[in-house]
Amino acid sequence: MSYPIPDLSHIPAMPRLPVVGNSLEVVRDPYGFHQKARDRLGPVYRFHFLGRDVVCAHGAEVLEQALLNREGRFSNVLGWQVIEDLFSGGLMLRDGADHRAHRRMLQPAFRADVMRNALTLLVDRLQAAIASWPVGQPFSFYTEFRGLARAIAAEVFMGITDPAEADRIGRAFLDMLDASAAPIRRPLPFTRMRRGIRARRELRDIFEGLIDERRTGKGRDLFSELCRLKTEDGDWIEKDVLVDHFNFFLFAAFDTATTSISAMVDQLSQHPDWQEAMAAEVATLDGDLSLEALDRLDVTERVLKEAIRLMPPVPFLPRGVVDGFEHDGHRLPKGTPLTVCPGLVMIDPEIWSDPLAFDPDRFSSNRAEDQRHAYAWAPFGGGIHKCLGMNFAIMEAKAFFACLLPRYRIAPRAPAKWRRLPIPSPTDGLQVTLRPASA
Ligand code: HEM
Repeated sequence: MSYPIPDLSHIPAMPRLPVVGNSLEVVRDPYGFHQKARDRLGPVYRFHFLGRDVVCAHGAEVLEQALLNREGRFSNVLGWQVIEDLFSGGLMLRDGADHRAHRRMLQPAFRADVMRNALTLLVDRLQAAIASWPVGQPFSFYTEFRGLARAIAAEVFMGITDPAEADRIGRAFLDMLDASAAPIRRPLPFTRMRRGIRARRELRDIFEGLIDERRTGKGRDLFSELCRLKTEDGDWIEKDVLVDHFNFFLFAAFDTATTSISAMVDQLSQHPDWQEAMAAEVATLDGDLSLEALDRLDVTERVLKEAIRLMPPVPFLPRGVVDGFEHDGHRLPKGTPLTVCPGLVMIDPEIWSDPLAFDPDRFSSNRAEDQRHAYAWAPFGGGIHKCLGMNFAIMEAKAFFACLLPRYRIAPRAPAKWRRLPIPSPTDGLQVTLRPASA
């Protein structure tokens, strides 16, 4: 599906450079750019990004409208076109009735018993990785954790235990993730995009080759669970469809988790009081790392919520307008590329008190700042495309700190500098020093 970009000249525009438009400014400092544009032009304006005009609409109301999409005016297929070559067929890249049917079909892959099995595999992997990290000397946490994601993808998501096979899958998987963030979007020779598309082919072949065996086997990893799902008519899901969904799950699950856990580590290295509060809470579990035990980690959950309010892995959400829509007196015709901004809503001073301060207690039941608007806190999106892996992501973050804090503390350090796009990452790889918990 595609529409020609309509005439948008009636929408106020940010001044732009020839050829690159506003791309450089947006990539350098997206929050700064969009805050300046909103102050200058109001909540709806045009900017030129990666070769085309895009309309940005600010505020919790329009975020809610776009994500709930009650009247079917917004398209994810059009919005996420930029990753279509790598992830077509993924749940997030579907619209309307087709999306609803696929979402219903996939939902059982996130049942509590599936999560419980995944957690057992995950905890083993996390414990092994944490035990291998240096103590008393700095290492690049973000890079280490991203590497660990390769092993989690192979072992926890796919149940692959052969190290050579896990490594092959992990490498192809990282090539695909790198391509999703590459500035050159065409698969020209020697580009990340070319490598990513090759990796997609390789992964699809691997996944497809495993499906028959997984359908009849007893594997408890996510891929095996997915393979055993059936359609509403009681048939196996077609292999092509299954492979596309799993491929997208891998994409959706990893850099987002690496960013959110790194954002927590960054905050905890500046807020030892919160680190101690989390460690004390983890100690009450007495080594019980079951799903039910992790559910009780309220302090950890508040720290996670606050860390990803300030550093959301997905700060902007793209949509395509498929049916004319009016916001704040501006008509957005069919075909308009639209961006809505959960990241900026989450630091909106009209919703949050002292919005840039790290203050996990704002999520406590007596303050409940996140309840001031239904879309005040939306790092996992909302409405019909709300993240299907949200509970998995929360479980993973809790499991990680429940494994880390009984052994170590993160030494104090200055706040990291973060690059926000295409997905937030600390510019120095987050140099962190671990100290023994008892020191
Ligand atoms: C902290 C970690 C994560 C964050 C911040 C996050 C964020 C998001 C966001 C914002 C969306 C909505 C996109 C849109 O509306 O266009 C989304 C969708 C999705 N996420 Fe996540 N995600 C995370 C982890 C995961 C994990 C671990 C999985 C799978 C195991 C996952 C699977 C999905 C899927 C399948 C969708 C598409 C849902 C749909 O279109 O119906 N995510 N995620």
